[in-house]
Amino acid sequence: MSKQTSKYVCQSCGYVSARWTGKCPNCNEWNSFVEEAVTPLKVVRKSGGIASKLNAISLTDVDSIADVRFVTGMAEFDRVLGGGIVTGSVILLGGDPGIGKSTLMMQVALHLKDKVTLYITGEESPKQVKLRVERLGKATSNIQLLPETNLELITDVIEQAMPDFVIVDSIQTLYNPNLESAPGSVGQVRESTGMLTRIAKKKNIPIILIGHVTKEGAIAGPRVIEHMVDAVLQFEGEKHYAYRILRGIKNRFGSTNEIGIFEMHDTGLREVLNPSEIFLSERTYGASGATIVATLEGTRPLLIEVQALVSTSNYGMPQRTSTGFDLRRLQMLLAVLDKRVGINTGAHDVFVNVAGGIRIDEPAADLGIAASIVSSLRDIPVDSQTVAIGEIGLGGEIRTIAHCDKRVQESAKLGFKNIIIPSTNAKKMKSTKDITIIGVETIQEAIKHLVGT
Ligand code: TYD
Ligand code: MG
Repeated sequence: MSKQTSKYVCQSCGYVSARWTGKCPNCNEWNSFVEEAVTPLKVVRKSGGIASKLNAISLTDVDSIADVRFVTGMAEFDRVLGGGIVTGSVILLGGDPGIGKSTLMMQVALHLKDKVTLYITGEESPKQVKLRVERLGKATSNIQLLPETNLELITDVIEQAMPDFVIVDSIQTLYNPNLESAPGSVGQVRESTGMLTRIAKKKNIPIILIGHVTKEGAIAGPRVIEHMVDAVLQFEGEKHYAYRILRGIKNRFGSTNEIGIFEMHDTGLREVLNPSEIFLSERTYGASGATIVATLEGTRPLLIEVQALVSTSNYGMPQRTSTGFDLRRLQMLLAVLDKRVGINTGAHDVFVNVAGGIRIDEPAADLGIAASIVSSLRDIPVDSQTVAIGEIGLGGEIRTIAHCDKRVQESAKLGFKNIIIPSTNAKKMKSTKDITIIGVETIQEAIKHLVGT
């Protein structure tokens, strides 16, 4: 009988089976078996007791990570990682197919002129990769291409070549020949990540794993390895816009709320260093239903136009549609407007859109959204020189927001004249000759300032 190289483990209770089964005989869970490689346990026993040669290290003797980062020179990419790539770290770059993950990583590699990058390409042939590189700039000899998907061969090459940096495009194409399951299955993706992580730590080489994730997270893989890697970055954007946002979702070596903004051109991704100006360049003047909000993405303030369209509903069930803003939060805002201000949208369709394909996650945009809704409903435009920020509570109160000074500064820098902020924040701030600060306590008060009575 041939030696068994893989086993199936129930992800729910840990039950081990030699064969795949649909239902776990131990805990009765369905579809919980995932294939794993069988690794024989090596027992380390020395004469002086178990592992007497192993020594714990004092925390003060461990090298600090601050000095083992390297900057790639792509400022937006470095920012999201918290100041560059930490050596020996494993980073997962997820995103929809076609969003530009391979382009981004190739550009990073092209920037690293004094580092040897090993680019493992499991999806495209070297010719296809070269074709892309030709659009992006000049091919350099410090990038080595490896068209391979066999995990064992790949790890051998990494250990022999000892590159400074490894890019795996993509993790879903790799496979360990000892496992029966197909590349891209949960077992294979996890096995590949595990092996590459061990190499990264052992040889101190940073590895980037590219992974396809659909919006619904439908493709097996990247989600299940998020906990195994040091950082998870998500590359996202709307299909019809050129903007791409790189978002930190998890980062063991830095903060996670930084974003990097890029614009896709025919010659690759260009960094957007002054995003507010770009996002405001197409704004609508004089039309109702648009308000400028100052959101904070990581440490950087970003001025964006939020739009609403409120129209009479012709069907029984009024529609609520939102792009770039949480739909449940929108419903909450509509309920607060109804209950606290007496503005009822029960017979109207409400559409909310954040311009430029940006997604706003923070509640400070509440006030801007509410103002746009009321503005559209009454067909009264919000003053184009005004910025509105504030979180709306269920009682209709305008709640304190974080880093108000940064948002006010950015608004002043871009030439806005008035800024409406929560009264608690306003107490700590003074109007200047450039910008008038208006503190508001309730949503009624804010609406009065923004769209009249
Ligand atoms: P790609 O990096 O292949 O996406 P992913 O690896 O995430 O699947 O990029 C895909 C899209 O980007 C493709 O539709 C073409 C476009 N693109 C440009 O617009 N300009 C460019 O310079 C390059 C290289 C790609
Ligand atoms: Mg790709």
